Amino acid sequence: MTGKIVLLTGAGISAESGLGTFRDKDGLWTQYDLNDVATPEGFHRNPDLVLSFYNARRKNAAQASPNAAHFALAKLAQEHPAEVVIVTQNVDSLHERAGSTNVLHMHGHLAGALCHACQTRWDAPEIMTKSDACPSCGAKSTRPDIVWFGEIPYYMDEIWEHLATADLFVAIGTSGEVYPAADFVQIAAQAGAHTVEINLEPSARVSDFAETCFGPASEVVPNWVTSELER
Ligand code: OAD
Repeated sequence: MTGKIVLLTGAGISAESGLGTFRDKDGLWTQYDLNDVATPEGFHRNPDLVLSFYNARRKNAAQASPNAAHFALAKLAQEHPAEVVIVTQNVDSLHERAGSTNVLHMHGHLAGALCHACQTRWDAPEIMTKSDACPSCGAKSTRPDIVWFGEIPYYMDEIWEHLATADLFVAIGTSGEVYPAADFVQIAAQAGAHTVEINLEPSARVSDFAETCFGPASEVVPNWVTSELER
């Protein structure tokens, strides 16, 4: 029996829910310069642009529904006899809406607002504006609770601990282009975990995985979960 399972998910798992990925053809980073919309410097230069970018993404994410891959991972966590942890780079809530509870949003969450001045967090309004004041310090520097390039991802201490104690590490729908997530496969493997990549096509880190499985997440993930639960 497989013991503890650590799953790393990326934009590819939500692609079939209608949410765009970043680096595929027509991906978000082909339409926007990430330096403009996903860095503290970009927010400082043009907060309206950044807020409208994330307002649009929050609206899209609220209208999207979890797909078969999100539901299969929730089923895995319910039925697997050992711990299952989802570490996601995604800022949507589709894992939770499919029933998953043990989810670490390492790149933050569209549903959250953050005061850039005092770091207070609260629930994001549907439309965030430059004149929204922090409920704690009153500063008008409300931003989405999203980890931008140049900032430190959330939950890193917990994540290193999970990787060090994983028996199986599976990356799903991620290009392996963004660090530190791209290094998780090596860390888990060095700690003794079996490693599996599930993706539409080989990622930048494919050679680091012991096993691979290619195809759309909504088909491949449920099949993989069924075989894992029968193991
Ligand atoms: P990417 O857009 O870099 O990669 C998405 C991956 O999903 C690619 O390897 C695709 O081949 C794969 N894919 C696309 N459709 C799929 C499908 N239907 N089934 C399975 N796989 C599919 O997205 P991430 O790796 O998540 O960070 O990007 C990592 C981080 O870069 C994001 O969290 C975001 C971005 O900049 C921040 O904004 C801080």
